[in-house]
This record gives sequence, C-alpha cells and structure tokens, in this order.
Amino acid sequence: MSSLSFNHNYFGCLGGATTNQALVLSRPGTSSTSRRTLFWGLGTLGAIIASVFLSPLMINQQSSPEIDPTDYAARTRHVLSTTPLIDGHNDLPYLIRTELKHQIYNDRFTFNTGLLSNTDREKLRSGMVGGQFWSAYIHCPKDAATKNDVPLEDPTWTLRDTLEQIDITKRFVAEYSDLFHYCTNSTCAREAFANGKIGSFIGIEGGHQVGNSLASLRQLYDLGARYITTTHNCDNVFGTAASTVSAGGEDRGLTAFGEEYVAEMNRLGMMIDLSHVSHETMRDTLRLSQAPIIFSHTGAYALSKVLRFAPDDVLRETAEKGGVVMITFINRFLRPDSPDAATIHDVVDHIWHVAQVAGWDHVGVGSDFDGTPVTPRGLEDVSKYPRLVELLMERGATDDQIRKFAGDNILRVWEEVERVAERIQASGTRPNEALWDGRTWVRSEMSPPTMFRDSIGKRIPSYLGQP
Ligand SMILES: *[C@@H]1O[C@H](CO)[C@@H](O)[C@H](O)[C@H]1NC(C)=O
Repeated sequence: MSSLSFNHNYFGCLGGATTNQALVLSRPGTSSTSRRTLFWGLGTLGAIIASVFLSPLMINQQSSPEIDPTDYAARTRHVLSTTPLIDGHNDLPYLIRTELKHQIYNDRFTFNTGLLSNTDREKLRSGMVGGQFWSAYIHCPKDAATKNDVPLEDPTWTLRDTLEQIDITKRFVAEYSDLFHYCTNSTCAREAFANGKIGSFIGIEGGHQVGNSLASLRQLYDLGARYITTTHNCDNVFGTAASTVSAGGEDRGLTAFGEEYVAEMNRLGMMIDLSHVSHETMRDTLRLSQAPIIFSHTGAYALSKVLRFAPDDVLRETAEKGGVVMITFINRFLRPDSPDAATIHDVVDHIWHVAQVAGWDHVGVGSDFDGTPVTPRGLEDVSKYPRLVELLMERGATDDQIRKFAGDNILRVWEEVERVAERIQASGTRPNEALWDGRTWVRSEMSPPTMFRDSIGKRIPSYLGQP
C-alpha cells in the first residue's frame, strides 16, 4: 500500500522429476535390507538410463527448442503456463475496504466484468498470474489533530480491522472459487497452479497490526497469514521503519522484543517481510533469522535512494540466507526525482540489478498493484506481467532464470520457512511467552482468589489501581 499524499515522508506500501530411488526410499518399512539394496540398484540404473537418454529431451522441453529464442512473447507464454508467476503484494483487499466497506455481494463490485483499478478477473487471466499474496493492510494509526503516530498501546482497532482484511480476502477468494484457490502452504500453491487456479495467500503489511502481542501473532498464523511485514510506515514494538529514518529519526533496528518476534516467526513458519523496515532492521533480522526472509515489494537502493529499498549488502546477505527480493512497481520509489517518468524499464533495471548482485535465485516480483495511485508506463495493471517477462528475456534472461524469478524462488523460500519451523518445533521449542515491556495491564475490579502467598502486590492491578 502506498498512500496518495504529497507528503514526501509517506512510503508506499501501499518440480522436478522424482527419481526411482526417492520413491522407493520414501516408502517406509516395506522392504528388507536386501530388497532395498535391489531397489537401490534398479533405481540407480534407471536414473542413469534416464539421464543418458531422457535428460536432453527434458532439457529441450524446458527451453522449448521449437520456439524461436527471439520470439519473446511465445517464450513468455510457454514459461508462464508451466511455472506460476506469483506476485508478492497486491492491495485489493484494502481497496475493497476503501471503496465498499468489505461488502462485495452487490452489483457495484464488478470484478467479473471489469474494474477501473489494477486487478480484476480479465486482467488477472491475460496477465497469466499464477499465484498472489493478497495484502491484509491497515494503515499506521495517526492522531487526527497532530498527525503524529498514536501511542503504541492505543490502537486496538488496528487488530480488529486486520481481522476484517483477512475475512474479506477469504470471502473474496471463495466467491470466485472458479478462479482462485486459497492456500496456506507452498504445496497447495503449486497444486493450485497445476489445477489452473490462481493460488491465493495472505500477507499482513505491518507489525503494528499484530497488537503488540506474540499471542495475537500466533492467532494470525492460525487464521492463515503467511507473511508479516515487520513494520509499515511507523515504528512499532518490533523495530524501526524506513519512514522514521527518512524523516530524520534514529535507526535503532530491531527492538529486544523484535528479536523475540523473529524467533517466534521462525518457529511458526511465518515468512518475515522486510519491505518497509529500516536498513538496520533489515540487517538485524538477517543476522538473527534462522529461516530465509523475503522482501514482498521493494527495490534496489543502489538505483533509487529511498530508504525502504534494500542496499547491496542486504541483497547479498538475503541471498546468503536463501531469501528472495520481490521488486515493486511504485513510481515515486522507482524514480524519486521524476515519478511521472517511471516506466516498465525502470522495473526491469531493478530486477536486473538484484539478479546481478544477489543472483537469479533471489529475485522476484511484488507489484503493490491496487495500493499505489499511479503505476509505471507499460505496467498499468496485472495484465502486464508478460510484457515484463518479455523485456527481461530481451535483455538476456534465460527461461530457467525467468522460472526462478516468476515463482520458483518464492516457493522455495516458503518451503524452506516451513522446514525450519518443523525443525524448531520438533526440537521441543514451545510458543514464545515473551511480553512487550511497554504493555499496560489492568484487571477488572473484582476480588479474585489468590493463587500464591505473595499474590497481593504482584498480580495485575485493578483498573482503579487497587492491588
Ligand atoms: C497444505 O494445504 C493443503 C490445502 O489446505 C492441505 O490439504 C495440506 O494438508 C497442507 N499440507 C501441509 C503439509 O500442511
């Protein structure tokens, strides 16, 4: 989500073949050692034969020799019909909130026949979209009079409205179930695409939406959210936002509670998104996280000096940790000096830069469609992804590199985040009970029984201040 505002402080938010061995070995307890050895032998032989006789064919199929390499449109169609293009960030749920107060069962919401905004049925299909992280976004709460951030503990409605964003995303996906398939894991995402559906996933666009509570975080995971952007355009209990630093504030990186948050995100299997955080928050998180991280919608700081974009050391460290950097389409970040001049070529430049610095295994696409008032020329809406891929091919990207960029990278990261969570949970790590130390606690004025001899004076005081 990016806000339509003239205030410069505003930051936009807005398969591989299975070998015989693998099949045999994965079947538990069916064979004796000698049978297993025999199977191993046959499997290995089969694999050798397959690699000698079949793999040239496989490779040829992958890179489609029948397609003229300079026919970029045909290559693009081939690649995007066999690998899902998965976008990291689309703000349609917030637009539905803004325009319709979450009411979609009416004549006004003409999703099927066309909308003026960036995303509708027709555009998604002509854009060959194969999967989408829908953003559950609620803005940072501001004081109406001063326009300052409200105190951290104040905005409990933020969590309510986040629940509404999750609810509308699920209802929207269910309402158009011939087009979408709701998923909460990477396996489902691949299957949805194989079944001709647009896999639909939920990401939350700000740690301020989590209610300062790791318990709430766990419940958001249970509701289906699979990434959280550590900050949006306000500091929160977890860390420093890029917007704070660009407004002259200090970059304090992650807080102590933010370190607990990173650990709990890893344990849950929720992807950590660093799209709006400060550079020190990026570096702290990359140092601490046991799982790869994502940027759901960002750009290269080397090309555009906006502080929410990732500098080269962060790009390299993200690659080192196996993560993915998904490039956004927001004009005023792509071309801070002349936003109106932004085009699809600027997006290509950012993708190319990340591919050169971090590698093709670590770049992807995260548009911010429907969350930004203006889009680059040539990338007006979700129907334009194929054009972006064609331009990357024109610049020299191979089909394999495009597959990684389009969807394989984010799916690999998601799988790895799932694996790390399984490992942490299998090791017996319990849910994290850490509390934000700025939390205020009150209880009702009732007089409950005492649990301990020293309860009086230690437990939560009543709201009148009586212990
Ligand atoms: C992944 O999601 C699908 C669809 O919701 C579900 O059936 C499956 O059990 C999930 N797999 C794992 C490993 O959680």
